[in-house]
Order: sequence, then structure tokens, then C-alpha cells
Amino acid sequence: MAKRIEFQQYGGPEVLRWVDVEVSDPGPQQVLVENKAIGVNYIDTYVRSGLYPAPSLPSGLGTEAAGVVKKVGADVTGLQPGDRVVYAQSSPGAYSEYHCVDQDKLARLPDGITFAQAAASFLKGLTVYYLLRQTWHIKPGDTFLFHAAAGGVGLIACQWAKALGAHLIGTVGSAEKAARAKAAGAWATINYNQEPIAARLSELTDGNKVAVVYDSVGKATWEASLDCLRPRGLMVSFGNASGPVTGVDLAILNQKGSLYVTRPSLNGYIRDRETLRIASNALFSLLASGAIDVAVPASQQFALRDASRAHEALQGRRTQGSSLLIP
Ligand SMILES: NC(=O)c1ccc[n+]([C@@H]2O[C@H](COP(=O)([O-])OP(=O)(O)OC[C@H]3O[C@@H](n4cnc5c(N)ncnc54)[C@H](OP(=O)(O)O)[C@@H]3O)[C@@H](O)[C@H]2O)c1
Repeated sequence: MAKRIEFQQYGGPEVLRWVDVEVSDPGPQQVLVENKAIGVNYIDTYVRSGLYPAPSLPSGLGTEAAGVVKKVGADVTGLQPGDRVVYAQSSPGAYSEYHCVDQDKLARLPDGITFAQAAASFLKGLTVYYLLRQTWHIKPGDTFLFHAAAGGVGLIACQWAKALGAHLIGTVGSAEKAARAKAAGAWATINYNQEPIAARLSELTDGNKVAVVYDSVGKATWEASLDCLRPRGLMVSFGNASGPVTGVDLAILNQKGSLYVTRPSLNGYIRDRETLRIASNALFSLLASGAIDVAVPASQQFALRDASRAHEALQGRRTQGSSLLIP
């Protein structure tokens, strides 16, 4: 037997339960991983609330962790018991002491990268990789807007942008978060609780605005984000922290300058072992060089059984950078 977090109905953090579970054998293409550090992602709150419904109830939660391979399925190649690995985009259930994961969701962990670093950065770093390298190819000297810049994805984006020689303008909800984003490499910040986003961005860019906006806040920032774009700019709407964007009249894209919009997801870009290998190598080399630091303070490392507290902190906007669950 092992322990995991489970929920039987959708709702707030209080629906999460600490339960006993049988440890199952991996399927032919799967690997059984003993989790050592588990990543907390905002998407987990959407699954728990029912915004993104789980395949069935009761359900496990979480899709990202780092740990040690315990067993491999009959058709698995290139991995064996004892290997250190990290995974993202697993079936729901990574908030668990053990989890069976499809082999094409796993990467072998380089020696210098700890379980905590890996679980704090894998899903979020792969996301930043596809956003900055593929959805729009950010080049040295480019200036762009990235919302929630002091969050888990956001702090990695600040550091990745700096490594690319690009100017990330980050929105944040407090002065402390502004300082954190600046320290991580943001070129400028906008406190969206105090300053009008589009007017401030226009000042920062001498009226030029930006060619691309990355918006994971959703409902609260949708229209201001469009106002930050130059004619024919790209709005990348990749999350719903304030609620989903719905009921859009496409004419708004015409009115605000023949704009483009995309609503991407990680599994639309990391589709197989080869795309995962390329993206994870790019992330691992930035972690290994120190260009990306994902140290998680003790206040954001929660015991696995306290997953509900981690969700309260994340949704209460009390976190900076990544949070972890430790089995
Ligand atoms: N599409 C994809 O492929 C993909 C992949 C990974 C993540 N995401 C999205 O990226 C976003 C960031 O994920 P994360 O795990 O790194 O979370 P996070 O950024 O650490 O936490 C969310 C942040 O959003 C900001 N926020 C703004 N309005 C909010 C509201 N009404 N309620 C709560 N927070 C609000 C808060 O920062 P301030 O206090 O500074 O406002 C908060 O800290 C999420 O929207 C997630 O769904 C998308």
C-alpha cells in the first residue's frame, strides 16, 4: 500500500483527501516511479475545481514529479530500476508516493540536477521553452509582455528571456513580486493592481507596444493584453488564473489592429519522445549552467498530505516561483 491525494467531487482545496492506494504494476509501455519531489501547477487547481474535468471520479491529481524508477514495463526501452527521472503531463495522480507513467512522458535526470530542482521546473520550463522558442521565436533585443512574472512559469520566463538577451516586461501583483521578477531578469515590471497595463507598457516602449503578449491570467487581463499589441501582433492566451476567457467577438481583433490569437498547451507542442528530448535538454542545460535557478523556499515546500494548503497558497496569490509537495 501507498498514500496519495485523491478527490471524489470537484470543489475548493478542501475536497483533497489523503488516502491509501494499491501500488499497481506498470503497463507494457509504463514505468513505476517512486516520487521524491512533486510539482504543484496551477492546472492542478483547474482539475480539482472541475474547470478541466478529470477522466473519472474519484481521481488522483497532479502530472509532474521527479523520483526513482522502481519497475519498468515489458516494452520499455532505455530506462531501468534505480534511474533518476522527471516527468510531466502524466495521467492525473502524481500527488502520490508512487505513480505509473507512460515512458514518453519521462526524461532521465542529469546527475547535477536535484529532484527538487527538476520537480520545480520541468512542466513550467518546458512550457516556457515552447512559448519563447516556438509559439513565437523570441530573439535578442525583442521586447514582450509576460503576465504573472513572479509565478512559477513567470520566474523561469524572466530568466530564460535574460539568457536570450530579450526584454521581458512582467506584470505582477505586488511590490515584493516586482522585485523578485526584476532580480530574476525581467527588464521592467508593471504592478497590475496599481497601474493601467496598456498605458504603462506604452510608456515603457516609447509608444511602440509589443509584437507578442503571453497571458496566463485570462479573464482579468484579456482586453488590456490586446491593447498592448502592435498591429498584427500575437496574443498568446495560455492560462486562466483569474478565470477563462469566453464569449469573444472576433471583431475585437480587427478593431485592435488585425491581431492574431493562439490558445496553446504543452501537449500541443511536446508530442513525443523526440520533442520532449529536445525541450528537456534545452531546460537542463540552463539549469546546469545556473542561468535558471528554481530554488524553492521552505515556506513553499509542503508535505504531500498537505496538498490542500499548497493549493490555498497558490490560488491566494501568496506564492512566488514554484511550490513542491514532498512525499
Ligand atoms: N497552456 C500551457 O501549456 C500552460 C502550461 C503551464 C502553465 N500554464 C498556465 O500558466 C499560469 C501559471 O502557472 P503556475 O503554475 O506557474 O502558477 P503561478 O504563476 O505560480 O500562479 C498564478 C499567478 O497568477 C497571478 N494571478 C493573477 N490573477 C489571479 C487570480 N485572480 N487568482 C490567482 N492568481 C492570479 C498571481 O500572481 P500575481 O499575484 O503577481 O498577480 C499568481 O501568483 C497558469 O494560468 C497556468 O494555467 C499554462
